[in-house]
Amino acid sequence: MPAAGGFDLQAHRGGRGLAPENTLAAFEHALEIGVTTLELDVGITVDGVAVVSHDPYLNPAITRDASGQWLAAKGPLIKSLTLAQLQTYDVGRINPASPYAAQFGTQAPRDGQRVPTLASLFALVKNYGADGVRFNIETKLNPSQPGDTVGVEAMTRTLLQAVRDAGMARRVTVQSFDWRSLQLVQQLAPEIPTVYLTVQAGANDNTRDSAWTAGFQLGQHGSVPRLVKAAGGAVWSPNAGAVTEALVKEAQALGLQVIPWTVNNPADLQRLMDWGVDGLITDYPDRLRELMRER
Ligand code: G3P
Ligand code: CA
Repeated sequence: MPAAGGFDLQAHRGGRGLAPENTLAAFEHALEIGVTTLELDVGITVDGVAVVSHDPYLNPAITRDASGQWLAAKGPLIKSLTLAQLQTYDVGRINPASPYAAQFGTQAPRDGQRVPTLASLFALVKNYGADGVRFNIETKLNPSQPGDTVGVEAMTRTLLQAVRDAGMARRVTVQSFDWRSLQLVQQLAPEIPTVYLTVQAGANDNTRDSAWTAGFQLGQHGSVPRLVKAAGGAVWSPNAGAVTEALVKEAQALGLQVIPWTVNNPADLQRLMDWGVDGLITDYPDRLRELMRER
């Protein structure tokens, strides 16, 4: 959540179009570009450590084992590994033979990158001296696959503890598609703004948005922005492909910030900036930085 009036340039997974996603190499590169916020996802290991990873399992498209071999299939769940076990894997390169390689972009490899702890990311940013940079941290929960993670309560509590241990509560927002996690943040850490993620922006919201499991009914509120406001959110982060200018204005009139995900095409970045969004989440923070300079 940027200071009032400041446009929030968020590097998605550290800027996965430019460096291996959710690695310290990516986050450092994003700092060099001059982003305002690092967007990242968290999971929790079996020994209770908050780590930075998008997938709840080791993804064979980007993971090699300690002997340098690509994982042949979906790897173990992060929640089943100790931190030491997890960090034997290398996540600094895309497997060119993977059918999913293209989804991970074309960035230069950075061999030797490990799944980082959240604490190590906080330390990196402190050491870099980027005192104004913020962290938009997603509790990576999938309501339709509850067994893949440690669960809503354990993940949210472990994350909050890691944030407090690092003294970073004032520089963090917590985002989630699982609104139960956001409700818990509001209860346990009211000083941390919550970011409500949605896939669809209309009445046909799909099940990935777990407003329903958190007890909210769109029908009682009339629109997604009103629902987010009623839930206590500070920011609404809609899928950029599903949001309209009218919804942006409606949300902002309610006092919400609007920060769509994930926008990479310069024409789309420009259109959303012209609509007056408060920030954008992008795999290519260099492109957005350039457009912001031209303004
Ligand atoms: O911040 C929202 C965005 O990161 C959601 O998409 O799947 O990349 O976590 P995903
Ligand atoms: Ca995310």
